[in-house]
Amino acid sequence: MCGIFGCVLKEGNAAPVIHGSLKRLEYRGYDSVGEVTLHNGQIFIKKDQGKIDEVHKLHNLDDLPGNIGIGHTRWATHGAPLQVNAHPHVDCSGQIALVHNGIVENFVELKLELENRGHVFQSKTDTEVIVHLIEDVLNVNPSLSLTDAVLETIKKLCGSYAIAVVSTKEPDKIVCARNESPLVIGVNENALYCASDIPAFLPLTKKAVIIDDGELVTLSLKGLEIRKIADSSLVTREPKLIDWTPEMAVKQGYPHFMIKEIHEQPDCLRNTLRLQEHYLDLMATFPDRAREVFLVACGTSYHACLAASYMFSKLAFLATYPVIASEFIEQHGKSVNIDSTILAVSQSGETADTLAAVNCARQRAATILGLTNAIGSTLTRVSRVYIGQQSGPEIGVAATKTFTSQLSVMAQIALRLAKKRGKVSQDEMDYLADRLQKLPDIVKTIIETQEEKVKQIAKKYKEAKTFFFLGRGISTATAYEGRLKLMEIAYVPAIAFPAGESKHGPISLIEPGFPVVFICPKDEAHKTLIGNIMEMKARGASIIAVIEEGDEEIKNLADDYIEVPKDIPEVLSPIPFIIPLQLLAYYMAVERGFNPDTPRNLAKSVTVK
Ligand code: M6R
Repeated sequence: MCGIFGCVLKEGNAAPVIHGSLKRLEYRGYDSVGEVTLHNGQIFIKKDQGKIDEVHKLHNLDDLPGNIGIGHTRWATHGAPLQVNAHPHVDCSGQIALVHNGIVENFVELKLELENRGHVFQSKTDTEVIVHLIEDVLNVNPSLSLTDAVLETIKKLCGSYAIAVVSTKEPDKIVCARNESPLVIGVNENALYCASDIPAFLPLTKKAVIIDDGELVTLSLKGLEIRKIADSSLVTREPKLIDWTPEMAVKQGYPHFMIKEIHEQPDCLRNTLRLQEHYLDLMATFPDRAREVFLVACGTSYHACLAASYMFSKLAFLATYPVIASEFIEQHGKSVNIDSTILAVSQSGETADTLAAVNCARQRAATILGLTNAIGSTLTRVSRVYIGQQSGPEIGVAATKTFTSQLSVMAQIALRLAKKRGKVSQDEMDYLADRLQKLPDIVKTIIETQEEKVKQIAKKYKEAKTFFFLGRGISTATAYEGRLKLMEIAYVPAIAFPAGESKHGPISLIEPGFPVVFICPKDEAHKTLIGNIMEMKARGASIIAVIEEGDEEIKNLADDYIEVPKDIPEVLSPIPFIIPLQLLAYYMAVERGFNPDTPRNLAKSVTVK
């Protein structure tokens, strides 16, 4: 997730307007920033790594000349957060400049073709191919307009993009386009703006035109022209009046970041499915060779590891050991060695406990693999191989979208490992790959159809003093994560166990009305889980079940139920099944009068041991 912005002004300098707007988009990414303006037929660029304020202090982002320009605030996906990888990127002649939010999936092939035709690349980004492609199209047909050259170029791209392009050949225009990455246009009498999000231009205008996937827009002082990318046909669309307050705008109309981030999960999951095969293969190579594999993390990331250990075992027949990072040194510090592989999972890449475990393992020559949301973080620097989880910045302290993204990435690694080890038939592989592709839509359906129901359940149980969360097999990880969410933001003490373990002690807590949440995918443990539900019911517990659609047996036993679509393979089930529990925690916090974004005593990144 990055932020793009552009403006064409009747009067005045574009640079300070771009700077101010990028500040309002900083929540979309903040590891590097850049601006380009056009003036007297020349291009002027400033860009560097670092937060906007840091880069401004060093380079003064406001003194670029000209009334037209584009800018970018970056959250690195391809290429480390370095000056050379910061946007805008330019073509070989330095006459065309471009900013991009999204992922170009076929950039490796495109880059090779372009290099063979003599293009020279500066950065490690996927983005740079787009600007060289535009140049290439214009080299072949110099009479094309910038709009037509961009139209022809984007037909060659696979993946997601929102782009804005300027060129010295048509210095009065910005051409932008979108596919699966957001793009909105702001309109007033004196200016036109393009941006990733409405907050970018909200103090400048309240009139916005929302651009749809598959559309291209040309902005100039003459106005805006929208075309369909498929057939170049013109589209007419009236601006909408946006009546958001600035605070609502940053949260895109949602009351809290947490609920916004829960709703972002379908898009984040789509992004994880665009990861480069090469990196996934590389990540799968090391566990395959290792004598022992540890999955090391804290909090929510640990729960993702716990679920992943079932994925590795069930798909690749590989035993892995999930370890809470703060315990790693005590438990394995003396035995970890050159034959061990550590997959460290950390959203922030800066968690002190995780880094301490990694450090200990490195000193004993173990191989370190990293999975993180923050490219450029310490974890990426100390890992032999790392992979980005592609969730974009998460502002709410509670990890939500980053959990499901971590699960999706680890499921893909487990699938690759299964293939390498020849443990899964081709038919099963194809089936699992197909279901993985469908997960973004499944998650979207759950949010659309179940949110209201979960809200009502939260109202009903808001006074409960304690909660139980139970699941079997991989759903144990879902139960632990559901409990953590509820405890950390709604301050409801909660207990989670593998359902089979509850009769060995915890069941003694049950008294009439005690809410027990069961996670009930239709897997091999389903029948046994029904037995566990009966045990609880017999003692007067109130059963809240997360079930697959049409699971009449559990529906009839439960006091309340939440449904997820059916036919989800067991190994992927934590991704859809956690969604209702995230919503439950969120609405419980709201019902109980707490701000879910900033739970007491907690920080987003825990950098102390
Ligand atoms: O950045 P990390 O993934 O390393 O963070 C680990 C935990 O601190 C984190 O998951 C924490 O438990 C969250 N607040 C959970 O919502």
